[in-house]
Amino acid sequence: MNTAFPEQFFQRQDESADQNFYSQPRFVTHIDDVTISSLTEFYREQIAPGSRVLDLMSSWISHLPEGVGYAHVSGLGMNAAELEANPRLHHYCVQDLNITPTLPFADNSFDAVLIAVSIQYLVKPVEVMTEINRCLTTGGQCIVAMSHRLFPTKAIHAFHILSPADRCRLVATYMEKGGLTEIEALDHSPHTGDPLWIVRSYCS
Ligand SMILES: C[S@@+](CC[C@H](N)C(=O)[O-])C[C@H]1O[C@@H](n2cnc3c(N)ncnc32)[C@H](O)[C@@H]1O
Repeated sequence: MNTAFPEQFFQRQDESADQNFYSQPRFVTHIDDVTISSLTEFYREQIAPGSRVLDLMSSWISHLPEGVGYAHVSGLGMNAAELEANPRLHHYCVQDLNITPTLPFADNSFDAVLIAVSIQYLVKPVEVMTEINRCLTTGGQCIVAMSHRLFPTKAIHAFHILSPADRCRLVATYMEKGGLTEIEALDHSPHTGDPLWIVRSYCS
């Protein structure tokens, strides 16, 4: 499924099992507090209360606004201790999307699927986007948030060499190939702190 992209795009300095890299929990944030606030405000404005939400590539923090009630929030990530500590998750599972991109959820089961500051670690992104599209209800949205920090040995080569604008275009292409529509790239970077680029699309 990655045939439209240069093969080296998906190569990583560290091709060993992701399970090893993520075996120890990291109770840290990966973007500045002001950037987290910008992402949280975006979620507040764009995800309706009562929505069913899937936080993919999740950890101990989902950046969802406090005080907003969602019908259900599921998380999928690599470290059980991080996911267990995430106060927003009603349910979580540990799964390596680079081995198994098929999502363990029913068709049409979410109104919003989120990937925060993690898309650069996927080596089968089109398969994952296809699955996101399957799991979203019609009119549901996929929100991919990106910044400029990364674990260099685990990020795919493309994210080392492309400009921010081209990284947004690449993610838009993942989405398009996965069947998502109405794709838009948005810059929600705060005046200071880490940048915040968002690519959003819909299930139609
Ligand atoms: C930089 S952290 C971001 C965590 C969280 N989304 C946040 O905003 O703080 C990267 C996350 O990607 C997840 N991840 C990395 N590789 C993965 C893979 N192969 N399959 C599933 N999740 C993965 C890890 O579990 C980790 O939580």
